Amino acid sequence: MDIKDLQSKFAQAYGDNYDTSAFFSPGRVNLIGEHTDYNGGYVFPCALSFGTYAVARKRSGNVMKFASSNFSKKVEASLDDLVFKPEDDWANYLKGVAYEIIQAGHELGGFEIFIEGNIPNGAGLSSSASIELLMAVALDSIFGLGIGRVELVKLCQKSENEFVGLNCGIMDQYACGMGKAGHAIFLDCKTITHEYVPLDLKGRKLVIANTNKRRGLTDSKYNERRAECEFALSQLNANLPGATCLGDISIEEFEANSGLITNPLAFKRARHIIYEDARVKKSVSLLKSGELLAFGELMRQAHESMRDDFEATGPELDALVEEAWKTPGVVGARMTGAGFGGCAVAIVDEDAIENFKKEVGEGYTKRIGLVPDFYVADVGDGTYKLF
Ligand code: GLA
Repeated sequence: MDIKDLQSKFAQAYGDNYDTSAFFSPGRVNLIGEHTDYNGGYVFPCALSFGTYAVARKRSGNVMKFASSNFSKKVEASLDDLVFKPEDDWANYLKGVAYEIIQAGHELGGFEIFIEGNIPNGAGLSSSASIELLMAVALDSIFGLGIGRVELVKLCQKSENEFVGLNCGIMDQYACGMGKAGHAIFLDCKTITHEYVPLDLKGRKLVIANTNKRRGLTDSKYNERRAECEFALSQLNANLPGATCLGDISIEEFEANSGLITNPLAFKRARHIIYEDARVKKSVSLLKSGELLAFGELMRQAHESMRDDFEATGPELDALVEEAWKTPGVVGARMTGAGFGGCAVAIVDEDAIENFKKEVGEGYTKRIGLVPDFYVADVGDGTYKLF
């Protein structure tokens, strides 16, 4: 990204670019631990080296102005009218963050921001969490608010839950806001505490493959899965009254009490969460001891569990991942993110990447009729100020 170019676009939108600051916020990919975050479990994501950039500054008065080269619509909102408006489209994500910061007791003023990103939209690489953190860190810095980073992460999640109305967990905002180059984040979503784990792939790279399937009905299916998990927990509580989330329940406790779950779908959803949580913990110790092949096997199990028990993959992700599994030089591959379309992540020998793109691409297109995209991902830092 050429920041000078972004500053020129800012000037075109707002007249000049005096006194501006610039910020970057990454996308994220989750290595393992899917749908465990809102169940008080563990996740293992990392921030990507691509993401969203912003040029921003204070302005007098109490109007906030939002513009982007990714979206044609420019939006303005006064600070006393920060409400969700469907016609404000993408800018609702930024308005919501300003709203939550004010609700948390901080003072904001007039503001202008221009953003441009290179995260494929709607691909499940957290383009929305990326712009939320971008806005939060820009406001915090420009208005000198001194809010801690984890607090900003929580405010961004609150904004997405309550202002935008998407009931997501905390993984995406945490990964974007707290990422560290060369490391994955082992995050305990119950206590909201993390450990950075060096990601030493020993001559291999993370390759993200995009199904390019539009993620229709994702939000309603996501909320449905949440409700099924909550239902399973409420029934398990009959014998496990101390469990406040599925993440509190061990495999042994689950196996001893799973007969309490009367709904077969809720049973399968809960089984996915319980075993996925154990896989995350095991993955962390495998990566620490450099056992990549064993980690690759857990990626396969995680995909199968998302396919068979959580039923959130779909023919496109299944085809993409199956093609990856049979391609030489692949240590592991699975779907990543919410599911129902979006992306898969694979660990591929560096010298096998070109062949991987060709073989997986051709195999997927033959089966599904769509052309996938591939991104070779480096693991970067969480949201930061450029100047
Ligand atoms: C989406 C949500 C996250 C998480 C994942 C699934 O990305 O935003 O909170 O639940 O799905 O792991």
